[in-house]
Amino acid sequence: MVGGVCCYIVDQTVDKRGNIMATILETIQQRVSVRAYAVEPLSGAIIQELQSFLATVTRGVFGSLLRFQLLDESTAVLAELKKFGTYGMITGDRYYIAGAVEKGSHAELDFGYALEGIILKATELGLGTCWIGGTLKRSTFAAKLGLKSHEVIPAITPLGLAAERKPLKTRLIEGALQVRKRKGWETLFFDGEPGRVLTAEQAGIWKDALEAVRIGPSASNKQPWRIIRDGPSFHFCLDYDKLYNSVFKDFSIQKLDLGIAMCHFELVAREQGLSGAWQLVDPKPAMGNLLYGASWQTGTPSV
Ligand SMILES: Cc1cc2nc3c(=O)[nH]c(=O)nc-3n(C[C@H](O)[C@H](O)[C@H](O)COP(=O)(O)O)c2cc1C
Repeated sequence: MVGGVCCYIVDQTVDKRGNIMATILETIQQRVSVRAYAVEPLSGAIIQELQSFLATVTRGVFGSLLRFQLLDESTAVLAELKKFGTYGMITGDRYYIAGAVEKGSHAELDFGYALEGIILKATELGLGTCWIGGTLKRSTFAAKLGLKSHEVIPAITPLGLAAERKPLKTRLIEGALQVRKRKGWETLFFDGEPGRVLTAEQAGIWKDALEAVRIGPSASNKQPWRIIRDGPSFHFCLDYDKLYNSVFKDFSIQKLDLGIAMCHFELVAREQGLSGAWQLVDPKPAMGNLLYGASWQTGTPSV
């Protein structure tokens, strides 16, 4: 059940020119949200590589149909460009990756997992990105993608080289979000039941995969992911904020965060030779006030 996104990235240790590539954990560490872009256009080779990659991302881990498109708004007049679809939160934006997923019970997990795989691919290519799920004019992107009634656009990302200097507005946004802050292991990872802390030492061979979840991006940097190790399983859950999620009627924004966490966990696990596969445990495991998402069953070969 592993999407093409993962297999593509983890198989690469040497690039086409024979250069050693960063490990996936290093790429995850390098990724930061870029909200100010340089004016330089992307090269044809980069655009082609991204487009070929996007063409492979068509189905999610749990089977949702997905489609992604690279948009280049270079022909728009500047005034239009500025308000193209990100309400002025982003500066210098010209390229975007926008995607749609068919509505369904696992749409957000599938979309979050897939777009994060794309974002990590862009990071490997030296490009900046920024998940935009809140400050996004969906009607603009819906028109660009020809959105169907059974689909939703949960988020997009602008794409490009990072500007050398950040405008004051960008620094203020990043200050308000405290973008570099992350919660500690004691808040996020549990052994057997919520509240019983799983330390990095106790995590053993799974330490890096869990750390990759901890340093990931999340909407408003709320870091809602919680993981409970339960024998051979890791249950991925959310400290779900109902009010926060009620802002968007067609999808739950924090379930995207959980898809991102799944992507990070799996990429690192696979790169380190740790096998497993995603499953939906039924009946759902008991987890107090947490909302269950999906489980990684260790030792299960993926298909
Ligand atoms: C699902 C999701 C939606 C997001 N939506 C927005 C957004 O609308 N506007 C924005 O400026 N940043 C958005 N972000 C970026 C987060 O604010 C950012 O990931 C977080 O503050 C951590 O910073 P970092 O990405 O630099 O590590 C979003 C992130 C995620 C995962």
